Amino acid sequence: MIVLGIESSCDELAVAVLDRDGKTLRANVVRTQVEIHAKYGGIVPEIASRDHIRSLSMVLARAFEDAKLTPQEIDGIAVTSGPGLVGSLLCGVELAKGLALALDKPIVGVNHLEGHIAAAFLETPAPKPPFVSLLISGGHTSLMLVRALGGPYEHLGSTRDDAAGEAFDKTAKLLGLGYPGGIVIDRLAKDRPRDRFTFPVLMPGKDNFDFSFSGLKTAAARMIRERPTPFTPDELGDFCAGFQEAVVDNLLKKAFRATLVSGTGTLVLAGGVAANSRLREKAAMRAAREQVALFLPSRANCTDNAAMIARAGYERLMRGENHGLSIDTRSYWPLTDKVTPKGSVRP
Ligand code: KG4
Ligand code: ZN
Repeated sequence: MIVLGIESSCDELAVAVLDRDGKTLRANVVRTQVEIHAKYGGIVPEIASRDHIRSLSMVLARAFEDAKLTPQEIDGIAVTSGPGLVGSLLCGVELAKGLALALDKPIVGVNHLEGHIAAAFLETPAPKPPFVSLLISGGHTSLMLVRALGGPYEHLGSTRDDAAGEAFDKTAKLLGLGYPGGIVIDRLAKDRPRDRFTFPVLMPGKDNFDFSFSGLKTAAARMIRERPTPFTPDELGDFCAGFQEAVVDNLLKKAFRATLVSGTGTLVLAGGVAANSRLREKAAMRAAREQVALFLPSRANCTDNAAMIARAGYERLMRGENHGLSIDTRSYWPLTDKVTPKGSVRP
């Protein structure tokens, strides 16, 4: 099936066309609003959805043009139905429903986080399930046991407070580095000593796969507030390096343990924070040492796009699923109900 993917859950509006092989992208258009929201220091939901509305037809037309296809030539539609900002989500969902109705094509709602997992399957070679996915984005931080693309997915653990991306973004905001801050911290931390500023690595217990980042963020806020003088450029880099190291250690500790305990031996990183260079570097070193098969999607496949939504939807559409026009902003997330026993997962 040729699948049209649509993603509008936050401040990116993206449309992609995935070819019949489920691998080749005929189009992959992303319109980002980073510059629009930067001056507010974060995303303003009302502005995000208004910009989506203004850009919809242009982005869609561009995708069909790149794909060299007419709308009638697609076989199905996949759209992010949640989680995300409701106003933003509705722009994509209603567009997708309108297209499905006009073209008489099947349509499926895709959970944005499942889309991040599916992004790895656009790479060659793709990872082979079962594997553990460390899902790290601006709003979520979870460990999932993936037995097959399409699920069901076994939830191993999640953050109990802030997401990893949120910790990066909020700390960057306190430092006056703008939004989104993760990528700026990554850049400023490059080649700087990581031990000049040290941060607490707080874990919510050893017998689970949960995370916690609020203590780290509070420690960073206190250190910034209590400084007698502003940071010099070098100190700022060192602060970013120390903070980034603490987030990375926090994430990798649980992710590698889950990989070991699950018996899968394979760890796949997913989501915007997986683009972080220190995380990628340290994960690679640790994987080599512990003989874990590590899968790092390209940076472009980590951050939000519609190719990953098309890839996740492709799996469902090929199985004959069709949510029809009843689709709304629920997140269709085929998670197992099973609560994983503490500290252990079924291999
Ligand atoms: O997956 P994503 O593009 O959107 C959401 O689903 O949230 O992730 C966005 C998050 C933001 O918090 C952003 O600061 C973070 O990913 N991010 C990074 C890097 N690139 C993006 N964080 C750390 N280092 C990076 N290089
Ligand atoms: Zn995302």
